Amino acid sequence: MERLPGFRDFYPEPVPEGDALAWSASLREHIFRTWRRVAQRYGFVEYDGPPLEPLGLYKVKSGDEIVQQLYHFVDKGAREVALRPEMTPTLARMIAAQFRQYKKPLKWFAIPQLFRYERQQKGRLREHFQFNADIVGEPDPGADAEVIALLVDILRAFGFSPADVVVRISSRSAWQEFYRRHAASSAKDASGEYAFYQIIDKLERTPLDESKKKLAALGIAWEQVEAFLQESPPTVELAAVIENLHARGLASYVQTDYRIIRGLAYYTGVVFEAFDRQGQFRAIAGGGRYDHLIRLLSGGRLDLPALGFGMGDVVLTELIRARGLAPNSSARIQVFCLLENKALDKPTLQLVQQLRDAGVAVDHPLGPEKSDKQFRRAREAGARILVTMEQAPDGMVQAKVRDLLTRQAISCTLHEATGVVLRWLASPENAAQPAQILP
Ligand code: HAM
Repeated sequence: MERLPGFRDFYPEPVPEGDALAWSASLREHIFRTWRRVAQRYGFVEYDGPPLEPLGLYKVKSGDEIVQQLYHFVDKGAREVALRPEMTPTLARMIAAQFRQYKKPLKWFAIPQLFRYERQQKGRLREHFQFNADIVGEPDPGADAEVIALLVDILRAFGFSPADVVVRISSRSAWQEFYRRHAASSAKDASGEYAFYQIIDKLERTPLDESKKKLAALGIAWEQVEAFLQESPPTVELAAVIENLHARGLASYVQTDYRIIRGLAYYTGVVFEAFDRQGQFRAIAGGGRYDHLIRLLSGGRLDLPALGFGMGDVVLTELIRARGLAPNSSARIQVFCLLENKALDKPTLQLVQQLRDAGVAVDHPLGPEKSDKQFRRAREAGARILVTMEQAPDGMVQAKVRDLLTRQAISCTLHEATGVVLRWLASPENAAQPAQILP
């Protein structure tokens, strides 16, 4: 049975080679942990929703492009349902249902798996995990700056410098004004406006003649667009966001760029996308302000400003690998308890349990195994410390603890062994151990 195209299997390291859709579960874990850690540093709290939603949720305001990419079907209760292609409509639906329960502004994040039936290509698959961070209930540009700062700090936490990545910031409202000023009066409706955003969104990936033709159909000359791109008239919000990011010392990561407009239909104000500086990859992340979506999804009951961004794991993983920033994840354990004498099974298990209770990552043979094979397994799993139980001539059971890094060895009582292991693991040489297996 074959895997579906555009879907991935996540394997533990070392990941099998020669299969472009066999991905690293350990690198995914590193990415999720980094997303959570930085979001929590900013005071964002985690939420989640169902992976299956009513089809109508996406028809309200995501835009045709994403609706055409939906995985959708009729369920056994004759409901039209869709696998979520993005998280924002779910968030807006959840907030519309429960907004009274929470104090505004809300700072929420989630890491959903999303599904889009896209043409499979570099950086685009049919499923991906997407970190989402959104602020709801705050109209001030300070909120826009806060989510962009979070985006920058996440990129920094993965080890990217301003030479590696850039967040390109723009204004959907400035483009909206442009459209309303220049479009032919016959095209001045919501579908014409959406078509225009799509043309600008795809400018960099479309032959210019094709874009020019599409613009002309809306009554807009390419020269008008070109002049607007050059002029990039700053809006009050955009200027406030840039100033705010300057104050945080993060301005070297951002740049005003009106080629950004965002493809989704619901954006209303400041919009942005993150890219690698060399332009080798698709967008790493994208987002912006969507002040009307909650009103639309609540049938006009609730009107709350909102904004946020999504960062997928696909391009991010490609970029982390390309820049050599993936952590070494070969070490799974810190200690291996060898079992060379079946009669010492019980004290060995006792020590294994004690060490695990103390937060140490420990493994041991589950059945009879030759000593050299046990030793090899311990090395492959990245164990730094080996422990073997020994019986002294007087019948006393002793633990022999060996540190493979510092080459020191000690014999002690079973009672003392956990303390020795903890002390040695905490020693400076411990820096050689990958951080992720430490508690
Ligand atoms: P989006 O631009 O459609 O925005 O997606 C955000 C990011 O998700 C992209 O920059 C890309 O990294 C990743 N991504 C999207 N589609 C795929 C795909 N097929 N394969 C791999 N990665 C993909 C949204 O989804 C908005 N709802 C984000 C948002 C949250 N805006 C406000 N809050």
